[in-house]
Amino acid sequence: EKGGYDHFMLKEIFEQPNTIFDCLRGRLDATGGTITMSGIQKYADQLTTANRIIMIACGTSWHAGLVAEYIFEEVTRIPVEVEYASEFRYRNPIINKGDVIIAISQSGETADTLVAIETAKEKGAIILGVVNVVGSSIARASHGGAYTHAGPEIGVASTKAFTAQLAVLTMIALKIGYIKGTLTEKRYMHLLNELNDVPEKVATALMQKDKIREIASKYKNASDSLYLGRGYNFPVALEGALKLKEISYIHAEGYPAAEMKHGPIALVDEKLPVFFVATKDSFHEKVLSNMQEIKARKGKVIAVVSEGDDAASALADDTITVPYADELIAPMINVIPMQLLAYYIGVSKGYDVDKPRNLAKSVTVE
Ligand code: F6R
Repeated sequence: EKGGYDHFMLKEIFEQPNTIFDCLRGRLDATGGTITMSGIQKYADQLTTANRIIMIACGTSWHAGLVAEYIFEEVTRIPVEVEYASEFRYRNPIINKGDVIIAISQSGETADTLVAIETAKEKGAIILGVVNVVGSSIARASHGGAYTHAGPEIGVASTKAFTAQLAVLTMIALKIGYIKGTLTEKRYMHLLNELNDVPEKVATALMQKDKIREIASKYKNASDSLYLGRGYNFPVALEGALKLKEISYIHAEGYPAAEMKHGPIALVDEKLPVFFVATKDSFHEKVLSNMQEIKARKGKVIAVVSEGDDAASALADDTITVPYADELIAPMINVIPMQLLAYYIGVSKGYDVDKPRNLAKSVTVE
C-alpha cells in the first residue's frame, strides 16, 4: 500500500505531480483562460465585493493561508488576515458584513478550525472551505468552497495536502482577481500557464532527492536550525521548519529573512545550519544579502535556488536547484526540497517519520 516506498510520507511527497494535476484537472483551462469551480462560483459576488477575507486554519494549513494572503492581496487587492483557529475562536473576533472566511483543513476535522467557523457563521460571515476529506465536518459546516482532491494523506506530516491547498487557493485568487479587474488579462493568462506547469516542475524538483539526501546526512546532527525566506517564500520557510521539527525533532525556527537581524542572528555560529529559500523573485537581491550576513558570521548556508543561478549558489555551502516559476506560483515548487530534507533527516536518525512522537493525524480536541 506504500506503493514501493519505504514510508507513506515519501510516497505522498512523490505523488505531488499527480495530486496537483488532479487538483487542477477539470478546473483550470490555461488555453481557454477559464477557472471553473462551482462551489466558489456561487459566492463569486461576495468574494469580489468582500471588504476583507479571513483565512482560518492550523499548522501546515495555516502556512498555506499565509502564502494565499500574499497572493490574494496582490491579485485581488482585498485585505486578507490569516488567523490561527485556536486564537480566533476565543477572542470575540470582529466580523463585519461582507467579510468572507476561508477555512483551510486537510482532515476537515480539526476541532479549533471547526468551532472557529461555526462562531463566524453565527455572526453572519460566508464560510468557504478548502478541505481535502470529502464530507468531513468542516466541509459540511461551510457554505461553499472547493475540495483539494489530494487523495488520502496517511503520513502524519502534511505534504501533498499543502501543495493542493496552494493550488486551490491560487485558482480562487486568480478567478476573483480576473473578475474584479485587479489582474490584467495578460498577467492572468501568464499565471494560468504557470499554474498549468506546476506538476511538471514539481516532478523536476523531486529529481534532486539524492542531492537532498546527501545534504540531510551532513546536517542531521544539528541541534538547532533556522529557515529563512521573504515574501511568498517566507511561509515556505515556516513550513520547512515545521516539517523538520515534526519529523527529525531538531529545533527549527522559520523567520522572514530580514527579521533575523532583530534577534535570531545571535544564534548563528559555525554549527548552525541556515536553510534559505532563495529562488529568483522580486526580493532576490535582498535575500542574497541576508545570505551574506549569515556567511559573515560563519553559519552554514543551505539554499534552494533557481536553476542556473550561479550568484546564489556561490554564496551557499550547499545548494538545491528547482525550476524557476513566477513568484506567486513558486511556493508549490520550493516546498518540495523542504519536505524531502525533513524526510531524509528523520529517516537517517532512525525515526518513524510516518508516526512522529506526540502527534496525531487529526487534532479533534482543542
Ligand atoms: C503538519 C500537520 C499539522 C496540520 C494541522 C491542521 O504537518 O500535519 O500541523 O496541518 O493539525 O490539520 P488540518 O489541515 O487537518 O486541519
